[in-house]
Amino acid sequence: MLLQFTEEQIMMRDMVRDFAKEKIEPWVEHMEAGEFPRELLTQMGELGLMGITAPEEFGGSAMDFTSYILAIHELSKVSAVMGVILSVHTSVGTNPIIYFGNDEQKQRYVSKLASGEFLGAFCLTEPSAGSDAGSLQSKAKKDGNDYVINGSKVFVTNGGEADVYIVFASTNTEAKTRGISAFIVEKGTPGLVIGKDEKKMGLHGSRTVQLTFDNCRVPVSNLLGAEGEGFKIAMANLDVGRIGIAAQSLGIAEAALEAATAYAKERVQFGKPIAVQQGIGFKLADMATAVEAAKLLVYKAADLRSKGLPCGQEASMAKLLASRTAVQTAIEAVQIFGGYGYTKDYPVERFFRDAKVTEIYEGTSEIQKLVISKHLLK
Ligand code: CAA
Repeated sequence: MLLQFTEEQIMMRDMVRDFAKEKIEPWVEHMEAGEFPRELLTQMGELGLMGITAPEEFGGSAMDFTSYILAIHELSKVSAVMGVILSVHTSVGTNPIIYFGNDEQKQRYVSKLASGEFLGAFCLTEPSAGSDAGSLQSKAKKDGNDYVINGSKVFVTNGGEADVYIVFASTNTEAKTRGISAFIVEKGTPGLVIGKDEKKMGLHGSRTVQLTFDNCRVPVSNLLGAEGEGFKIAMANLDVGRIGIAAQSLGIAEAALEAATAYAKERVQFGKPIAVQQGIGFKLADMATAVEAAKLLVYKAADLRSKGLPCGQEASMAKLLASRTAVQTAIEAVQIFGGYGYTKDYPVERFFRDAKVTEIYEGTSEIQKLVISKHLLK
C-alpha cells in the first residue's frame, strides 16, 4: 500500500502542521508546567478540528477518518498532549453519541462538541477494573424518570475540564458485560465529584483525574443506546479510538527521529559527525525503519475505517506497533543526544516521558495482543 493522500487530506494536514508550529509550539512549555490548553482547543474548534469527522448537520467538518488521523499525527509531532486531548474528545467522547445516540441527544450534544464549546471524556476504567473493563463495579439504578449512578472512575483523560462524560455503569450486575449501560453525564451534575488530578510521568498539561459518582442523578433521556448495550458501545468506540492513539504514538516517534537525525548530523565527535559513525547511523536506520512500518500500519487501519470496513484487528496492530515504536525511538533519541538528551534543554526527554503511556492507555500492549489473537482464532 502506498501512502497517497487526497488533495483535501493534504490541505488539512498542512493546515494542522502550520497551526501546530505557530500556535501550539509556543504553548509547549506552559503545558509542561501543567497548564491545560483550553484556548488552543477553542482555536481548534474554529478551525473545524474538534468536530473533524462529525456530520455537517451538527456543525462538524464531515471529513473522512484518515483526515482525522492525519490531524492527530501532526499535532502529536509538536505536542502529544494535544494529540491525546483531540483523540479522546473525538473517538470516545463524541463518537459514542454520533453512533449510538438518538436524535435528541445528537442535537443537544454533538454540535457543541463539534464546535469545541464542549469537551468530551470517557469514563470506563475503575480502581479495580482496568484491562478487565467488563468487571466494572459502578452501578446505575432506575428511579422514576432518572438513573442514579454510584461508583468511582480513574484515569479519566480530559476529566475535570470536560463538559460531557460518557459513563459506563451496570444496570444489571447478574448479566455481567450484557448488563453494562452507557450514560451521558454533564459537567456540574450534582453527585459528579471531580477527584485527584494525577501527577504523571509525561503528558503534562493533559488532565487525568479520578471521578466519583455519589448518587449522581441523570434523566432517563441520557441513557445512551439501550440498557445493557454499554459494553458494546465502549468496545466498538475503543476499536476505532485505538487508531487515534496509534497516530499519537506515530507523531511522537517521528518527532524523536527527526530531532535525533538533526542532532546527529551536527554533533561532531572523533573528528566527524556522529551520524556518519556506524553505531549511530545504524541506530537511525533502525529507528527510521520502525517509524515507516508503524506509519503504514496506522494509515492502513485508518483507510479501512474511512472505507467503512472492519478494522478492529488492524487498529490493535497499529496501536501495538506504533506505541512500541514511540517508546523505542524516544529511548534511542535520548541515547543519541547523550547527556544533553537527559536535560530539559532538548525535547527528547519529553518525547520519552510522553511515549510510555501510549503502551498503557486505551488498552495496554498486552490487551492489544489479546484482541489480535482473538481475531486470528475466529
Ligand atoms: N466490538 C463490539 N462488541 C465487542 C467487542 C468489540 N470490539 N469486543 C467484545 N465485544 C462484545 C462481545 O461480542 C461480547 O458480547 P456478547 O456477550 O453479546 O457475546 C461482549 O462484548 C464481551 O466480550 P468478551 O467476553 O470478549 O469481553 P472480555 O470481558 O473478555 O473483554 C477485552 C475483552 C478486549 C479484554 C476488553 O475488556 C478490553 O478492551 N479491555 C481493555 C480496556 C481498555 O481498553 N480500556 C481503555 C480505557 S479508555 C482510555 O484509556 C482513554 C484514555 O484515557 C486515553
